[in-house]
Amino acid sequence: MIRSIIQGVGHFVPEKVVTNDDLSSYLSTSDEWIVQRTGIRERRYVEDGVGASDLALEASRQALARAGLGPKDIDCIIFATLSPDINFPGSACLLQTKLGCGQIAALDIRTQCTGFLYGLQTADAYIRAGVYRHVLLVGAEVHSTGIEFADRGRDVTVLFGDGAGAAVLGAAEGEGSAADRGLLYTRVAADGAGARELCVIAPTSARKPRLTPQMLDDGLHYPYMNGKLVFRWATEKMPEVAIEAMQATGLGVGDVTWFVPHQANLRINELVARKLGIPDERCWNNIVRYGNTTAATIPIGLSELWEQGKLRPGDLVLMAGFGSGFTWGSALLRV
Ligand code: ACO
Repeated sequence: MIRSIIQGVGHFVPEKVVTNDDLSSYLSTSDEWIVQRTGIRERRYVEDGVGASDLALEASRQALARAGLGPKDIDCIIFATLSPDINFPGSACLLQTKLGCGQIAALDIRTQCTGFLYGLQTADAYIRAGVYRHVLLVGAEVHSTGIEFADRGRDVTVLFGDGAGAAVLGAAEGEGSAADRGLLYTRVAADGAGARELCVIAPTSARKPRLTPQMLDDGLHYPYMNGKLVFRWATEKMPEVAIEAMQATGLGVGDVTWFVPHQANLRINELVARKLGIPDERCWNNIVRYGNTTAATIPIGLSELWEQGKLRPGDLVLMAGFGSGFTWGSALLRV
């Protein structure tokens, strides 16, 4: 049985730190409100001219170096983002050229906060089917150029930050029991009935032209979020899909070394961990420093854990996420 393993992880966040107090100078908000409701204290913003593929490039180089591989060893790039550099082509094509991978497969996926988990399942399927030997999976977002710095958008604006995380996946080789390590399980799902509860409407192919001054006035090019509904769904679906992972593999939450949830709101993660019975010290949260970097949150978490020497052979990592779509998913990884 072939199993996919993560051979290297990397991450990159822009240098510019934006605190809650900085945001209070543009919006009617406060450090107290943001910390109390979300746990976020600061986030990172790109400088003008930097796109998602630029952040992805740095994270990918780090992941490749840690995997002991070069760009030419990669057979496929999967790029998860809701903030692609341009409308088309996808950011995977841009990253492919910037990295210098050669003419390999380059694929974008658009499943928002669950993007990395969808990407893991896709990469895993490619590797186990023998289609590709090494897949570079990236989650990268530039939110700061697409949110509204006015009171109308303050509920969403305070949440988001820019960043990228990457993982290099390959097949477990030459081991006595390859089945012991690697990706043990992935599960993803969606319910499009929730599509309009967390979305950016414009530009839209359903209108001619796709973007009008009226749409701009109405703020349809900014994210809309039904925050309370999303909160409710997230705190139901993340535990549900995490428990599915444990049941499918016959493992228990007591076996989990690290729980790495998507970072949308610290309160969501604390509630989910409590429902699962996972103590705070085994739950990796970095939303305090980065806000919600959407498809990048989970790989940034994995990369930080690796950097700090907190991932050891045999450790079990449980990942879970929920976001726009609605989409949700989980993955179990034996390091
Ligand atoms: N600063 C100050 N006050 C604010 C802000 C702000 N930034 N934003 C909203 N408020 C106000 C509201 O106007 C409201 O005022 P009112 O009572 O006078 O009407 C009050 O604060 C409460 O607003 P709520 O929206 O009820 O606040 P809530 O407690 O629900 O928290 C939050 C809002 C943090 C957004 C929460 O709903 C949440 O985290 N939801 C889930 C977010 C999430 O998981 N997103 C998914 C990932 S994103 C993706 O997939 C792309």
